[in-house]
Amino acid sequence: MSSNPSPPSNVSTIATLLRATPPPKIVALVGAGISTAANVPDFRSVQTGLYAKLAPLKLPYPEAIFDINFFKHTPEPFYAIARARKPRNLRPTLTHAFLALLAKKNLLHFIFTQNIDGLEEDAGVPASHILAAHGNWKSQRCYRCKKVYPDELMENAIETGEVPYCLDEGCRGVVKPDVVFFGQDLPKKFEEKEKTKLPEADIMLVLGTSLKVAPCSRLPRSVREGVPRVLVNLESAGDIGNRDGDVVALGQCDEVIRALNEELGWAEELDSLWQEAIAAKGRYKDKHGEQPSLDELIARCAEKIGPKPVTDGHRRMLEEHLDAKYAGILPGKV
Ligand code: OAD
Repeated sequence: MSSNPSPPSNVSTIATLLRATPPPKIVALVGAGISTAANVPDFRSVQTGLYAKLAPLKLPYPEAIFDINFFKHTPEPFYAIARARKPRNLRPTLTHAFLALLAKKNLLHFIFTQNIDGLEEDAGVPASHILAAHGNWKSQRCYRCKKVYPDELMENAIETGEVPYCLDEGCRGVVKPDVVFFGQDLPKKFEEKEKTKLPEADIMLVLGTSLKVAPCSRLPRSVREGVPRVLVNLESAGDIGNRDGDVVALGQCDEVIRALNEELGWAEELDSLWQEAIAAKGRYKDKHGEQPSLDELIARCAEKIGPKPVTDGHRRMLEEHLDAKYAGILPGKV
């Protein structure tokens, strides 16, 4: 993995694409890498990603923490880390503000985001231009009877790390935020937007994603031949770079985006949009004292639940599910 800023020549190439006449329609696919600067670890970075930090929990494999079949009977690990991932005091990054700037300039046709933090909208991108492919952490309900669970009780559960259960005494199912877990369907709008927005793209902009999770990973592959695909990421991802016209700018998103905006003469406008978005974001007051670090939350959970025995049958079932997911044979599911 490289953290060098992108070579200026790539930034100039991207700037030229954005300056085209008539103005291009940009379709973006974004992932966890655009929010790491907001202090949310991504998933798969080898040293800093969430999955690398979960080792003390002795999960069958890291992604099980977000697998519906695992969560149903072992929700403790998810709730242990929820406090560190719930988007309450997060501030949009420069890259989020850039997406809002593209929208303001009528260049942003649509965004597919894999993130559940809602920071694109917080930065000022109109909701009509966003599909939160993996859901958005704004509500929660009982996994079993689907009854909505109150926000205040959920906040309390997240701050204390206690697993919330359905208030209906006859049910007592586990409460789950309305985000998409592995093994669950994506929002119905995903396929609709894939069919309508993707074919209209003049540029496919891919920011901060490893492109390892289907079906979002197929979006850059499905874009029309001849449409330039631009990747801004710390490392290469998917097959971007293999087609004529692809542009790969390796580096920190915010650094590449800043250099790009300087090249375009938009840097001041971008900065003022960013500052406005930060000022507009309210601050959430944690009622249970300062938030412990993610490592601390994980260590506490490991101590509390101890090693959870996982049967071989269960492990096999989950592994088969992941194999299928990576082979892309689970249409409509992550
Ligand atoms: P990943 O963690 O798989 O990939 C994040 C990518 O961003 C990696 O390639 C990093 O190198 C890169 N990156 C990290 N910080 C960056 C920075 N500051 N600037 C540029 N690049 C940076 O995250 P996603 O691809 O978003 O789903 O993961 C997709 C899905 O897998 C998630 O939505 C989540 C996860 O499991 C579910 O849980 C259902």
